[in-house]
Formats: sequence, C-alpha cells, structure tokens
Amino acid sequence: MTQILSPGEELLDAFRANGFSTLPKLVDESELEWLRGVYDRLFENYLSADPGDYYDISGDGTGVAQLPQIIRPEKYAPELVESAHFARCRSIASAFLGVPESELDFYGHAILKPAEYGAPTPWHQDEAYMSPHWHRRGLSIWTPLDGASVESGCLHFVPGLHRGPVLPHRHIDHDDRVRGLMTDEVDPAAAVACPLEAGEASVHDFRTPHYAGPNHTSRARRAYVLVFMGPATAVEDPEPRPWRTQD
Ligand code: NI
Repeated sequence: MTQILSPGEELLDAFRANGFSTLPKLVDESELEWLRGVYDRLFENYLSADPGDYYDISGDGTGVAQLPQIIRPEKYAPELVESAHFARCRSIASAFLGVPESELDFYGHAILKPAEYGAPTPWHQDEAYMSPHWHRRGLSIWTPLDGASVESGCLHFVPGLHRGPVLPHRHIDHDDRVRGLMTDEVDPAAAVACPLEAGEASVHDFRTPHYAGPNHTSRARRAYVLVFMGPATAVEDPEPRPWRTQD
C-alpha cells in the first residue's frame, strides 16, 4: 500500500506560485486496478443514475453522450470514500489549502474521455461554475487511471492566473443547453502541458485556467477527480457571472 504522502514545501510553493502542481505517484498498481473496476462499473450502470449527476458536458442533452461524466460517484460507490486514495487526497488537500481535514467539503467527479474522441475540454476556471455570492478556497486532485499524454488528453494549465479574477466565460458553442463553460480570455501559448502516468496526479486551484485536449489514441482516458473546499464566506459585493443560470 502506498504511504500517505505529506506534500513537501517545494510542491506547496509550486502550487502557490503557479496555481497547480504535479504530485508524486499517488496510487500503486493494486489500488489502481481496484479504482478502475469501481470506475468501469459506475459507467456501465450510469443509466440508472440520477440524470442530474450523470451528464454529457459537451453535448446538448440529445443523442449519444460525447464526454460522459459522473458527478459524486461516491453516491453510487461509497467505498470510494473509504479508500486509501481518498484519505491520501484529503490529507494533501488539507495541507495545500491550510484547512483542517474536518472542515473540508468534498465531492468526486469521474470524467471519461472515450478513445478517438475528437473534441477538447475547452479552457475554463472551475470557479466560473460557482456562485459569486460565496467565496471558498478549493482545489481539484486529478488522477488519471490510464496514462494521460498530450495525445490522449492530459491537462494543460496557465501558471499564475489563479491570482487574478474569474475571467468571462460562456457556454460551449454559445449553446445554453450545453452545461460546459469555456473562456476565450486565455492565451494557449502561455500554457504548460501536464502529462501523467496512470496513478500519478496533479492538483489545481479553483481559479487556475485549465484545458484538456482531444483523445487521439485508441484507448479511453479515464480520470478520477476529487474536489476539496474550505468553509464558505459571503461576498459583500459579488461580481456578475452572467453565464450562470442561477444567482
Ligand atoms: Ni475543470
């Protein structure tokens, strides 16, 4: 079993400076096999899931799912939260956010990028999806269960922009039925690709712009994300986020 990792100052400094960091290998082979089994069962059973939890981020809700995702997979597979991987990620999140583990909220997110999938996950900041009325610091720990290369759709980040504002976003294809958001305000030339082996991981701040390319390989790219956030504080004078349908 892999030891619980306590992130060193170097990784914390990189995260603070850049808004993201890679992490040493988090998941060993036997745990990886277990996670893949849970993951594959979830996607096989997705039709029985609450439609609010299962959706296609880039489609308009009609036709075949192009980029299937399951929000809160732990609702259907509670063993995910009992796992060593979860404990490890929560400990890392606590250290990176400076928030005690007991005060962290979390949810999981499973994103399956099918083989030969031709569309990218466009540039966005996760915070763009959130209400501007509340501020909470948070991060995502992104663990691919298959190798994530530039060819198979690894993440790309723009360093430093997590210290700036939430950028203007819009719905993908300018279509409000598409739940996925994107921003046109990021210069891709400033981005850093972050290829990972299966079981390695990266961590990024809620405000770090990120992107994942198309999957040009003949294998699916399974990614399991754990999102952790600290306590929410009310924002006195919230900035408008007109792309959001609520608030
Ligand atoms: Ni994201």
